[in-house]
Amino acid sequence: MNYAQITGWGKYAPPLLMTNDDMAKIVETSDEWIFSRSGIRQRHYSHVSTGEMSWLAAERALAAAGTDAADIDLVLLGSTTPEEICPNTASFIKNKLGATKAAAFDLNSACTSWLYALNVATDMIKAGSVKKALVIGAERISLAMDWSKRESCFLFGDGAGAVVIEATEQKSGLLSAHMSCVPDSRECLHLPSWGMSPLHLTGGIHVSLNFEGQEIFKSAVKGMADSIAEVLDREGLTAADIDLFVPHQANVRIIQSLAKRLNFPMEKVVVCIDEYANTSAAAIPLALCDALSDGRVKPGMNILTASFGAGLTCGAGVIRWGDRVEPVGQSDAEIPPYEGTVFDLMKESFAYYGVDAEHLLTK
Ligand SMILES: CC(C)(COP(=O)(O)OP(=O)(O)OC[C@H]1O[C@@H](n2cnc3c(N)ncnc32)[C@H](O)[C@@H]1OP(=O)(O)O)[C@@H](O)C(=O)NCCC(=O)NCCS
Repeated sequence: MNYAQITGWGKYAPPLLMTNDDMAKIVETSDEWIFSRSGIRQRHYSHVSTGEMSWLAAERALAAAGTDAADIDLVLLGSTTPEEICPNTASFIKNKLGATKAAAFDLNSACTSWLYALNVATDMIKAGSVKKALVIGAERISLAMDWSKRESCFLFGDGAGAVVIEATEQKSGLLSAHMSCVPDSRECLHLPSWGMSPLHLTGGIHVSLNFEGQEIFKSAVKGMADSIAEVLDREGLTAADIDLFVPHQANVRIIQSLAKRLNFPMEKVVVCIDEYANTSAAAIPLALCDALSDGRVKPGMNILTASFGAGLTCGAGVIRWGDRVEPVGQSDAEIPPYEGTVFDLMKESFAYYGVDAEHLLTK
């Protein structure tokens, strides 16, 4: 039996920060309101594309695995915010890495994209069609924020996380996963115009997130709890057998509700929403990378993960960690910095949504 062990990991968190206090300069809100409702303190905004962020996270994951790009069979990007739909972004990443023999495709299930992608790539390794794969979750979702909607513009941030998975006979990697999609729930989290059809129908694009926060909250807790019950049952585990829980980071209150429902102590839960906000497909790999660098991941641990996103897609997985908890090597690749402030970076976006931010710009 083949398994798909995680042998390398890497992340890219863009250097520009948009704090809650910065946010309050753009929309009517406050650090107190945002933090108490969501657990978010700040978010990172990217000056480069999803593909560039993914490339750097992937370079770091390859170095951590001690693997050459040329040995990778598959580059799989989970993302909702590729810079282009055709050609896909995975082919850009593959070329920039020099992963010459790799197949490359993108997968979109919104915030669950990385977990869905990890499951797909793991199954390909188990089936024997792939031996080594890069599974990336990355989003430049700051570009989709509607600055006229204070109820949603504070929730999201940009970033990328990647893992290398490799065929092994050691029982490790993603042991079980459950992917689902809640029926008739597409409208409560929806980005109309984020695709092709409006070009033909209206001749124009206006991206604005439709969002029913409380509806999503309830469906998310139930959907993830159901998926978790399914994967624990398949592996013959209970919550007590789980050493670490790495959930999607959409709202700390969602995470707390889920942990309470599972009777799972918060000390074993990885929470980094204060640092990154919701980075959608990047959230779980970013959290995993931080858990590793904080020394919270130990060889042989049972790690539970769960996610939800637009669709409403849901999923959960049980990962048995392998032996490696320290990177084999480090990459010295970098992305050149942005010469300006986060307000300079976002100025076109503010203008597009009719927000006057002229006074905040570097003269
Ligand atoms: C978005 C979310 C944090 C809002 O929290 P909430 O407790 O449901 O808050 P509500 O939407 O009920 O809003 C409460 C009040 O705050 C106000 N408000 C909304 N956004 C605000 C902001 N940024 N700052 C200050 N006040 C705000 C509302 O107008 C409302 O005022 P009212 O009571 O006078 O009508 C929460 O619903 C959530 O996290 N939902 C799911 C997250 C999600 O879907 N993420 C993406 C999916 S992966």
